Amino acid sequence: MKITGTGSVLPKKIVTNDMLSEFLDTSDAWIYPRTGIRYRHVISDEKLEDMAAEASVKALENAGIKAEDLDMIICSNVVNEYVTPSLSCIVQGAIGATCPCLDINCACAGFIYALDIAESHFKAGKVKNVLVVCAEEPSRMTSWKDRSVCVLFGDGAGAAVLTEGDNIKGIKLSAASATDKLYEKRILEPTPYVAKEEENVPLQMKGQDVFKFAVKASSGDIKYLLDKLGMDAGDVKWYLLHQANMRIINSIRDFLGQPEEKFPTNVESHGNSSSASCPILLDECNRKGLFKPGDILALSAFGAGFISGAVILEW
Ligand code: ACO
Repeated sequence: MKITGTGSVLPKKIVTNDMLSEFLDTSDAWIYPRTGIRYRHVISDEKLEDMAAEASVKALENAGIKAEDLDMIICSNVVNEYVTPSLSCIVQGAIGATCPCLDINCACAGFIYALDIAESHFKAGKVKNVLVVCAEEPSRMTSWKDRSVCVLFGDGAGAAVLTEGDNIKGIKLSAASATDKLYEKRILEPTPYVAKEEENVPLQMKGQDVFKFAVKASSGDIKYLLDKLGMDAGDVKWYLLHQANMRIINSIRDFLGQPEEKFPTNVESHGNSSSASCPILLDECNRKGLFKPGDILALSAFGAGFISGAVILEW
């Protein structure tokens, strides 16, 4: 399997830290040093499904294939307007594909998990072209009264087209259940048989626990792959890490002992867009012409669950 096309879309509404301080007890002086975020793109009159479809079309154009050439669509998403049908089915119709579709919810690590599922289908000889699209609107998951959470996130969609090739060197998936550290709950339809009280709970986060998990999990996943492949950190040309927080990225970079220029970032202008973060960054770097054929890339992401994953691939 190899990545032959990428695409991404951001909502047009930009919300700066100063804009947040107009209705929250917060400031750029608090947010920027702790997170590296200056502003984020937030959905206003867009629909997430349209952004997912647009990112997919861009990735298909970039790969030079048509929607009807696709053998599978995998969509990574935590929440969107529909509980059912799946976002991948909505995207399929919007772009004019006819292939099987599936959605996964692996929180912020969704892109890595989707790559792993796709790779299994390539290895089984079942597919020739797969679209992975990660579309997220965490701005609709957080309470905009909770300054400790809402300031961290932004919305967006990122997509990648995969075709046959030998470019994936290794993928590592990890999970360690810790459901009280990062979660959101919603009320389900009532029934005559459910007696318990239920309530909507917007995204809750134990920030320092998440921070520690993120650094440990991402560093561990990347190190595992490097060791397994007989590589060292210096062999990787580009590290594309989940764009949650600049301090987390810097801690992983310290662990790997690698220079800053190997770690492209967009957290400053995007915030954390959950599973869309990695493919959006991948697309932005791809379109800037950063990657040359033969470059070794390491992608790594972590999120609620806890769940994490990394991939090492040749561009
Ligand atoms: N503005 C001003 N003050 C704030 C804000 C804010 N936006 N948020 C919290 N504070 C206050 C708190 O109320 C607290 O005040 P107190 O001391 O009077 O009680 C103080 O700042 C310190 O709060 P902490 O939570 O201890 O701050 P910390 O230094 O841990 O930084 C942060 C918080 C930035 C969230 C940090 O823990 C972090 O980066 N964690 C990782 C979060 C993350 O990346 N999550 C997403 C990854 S998973 C995924 O992608 C879904």
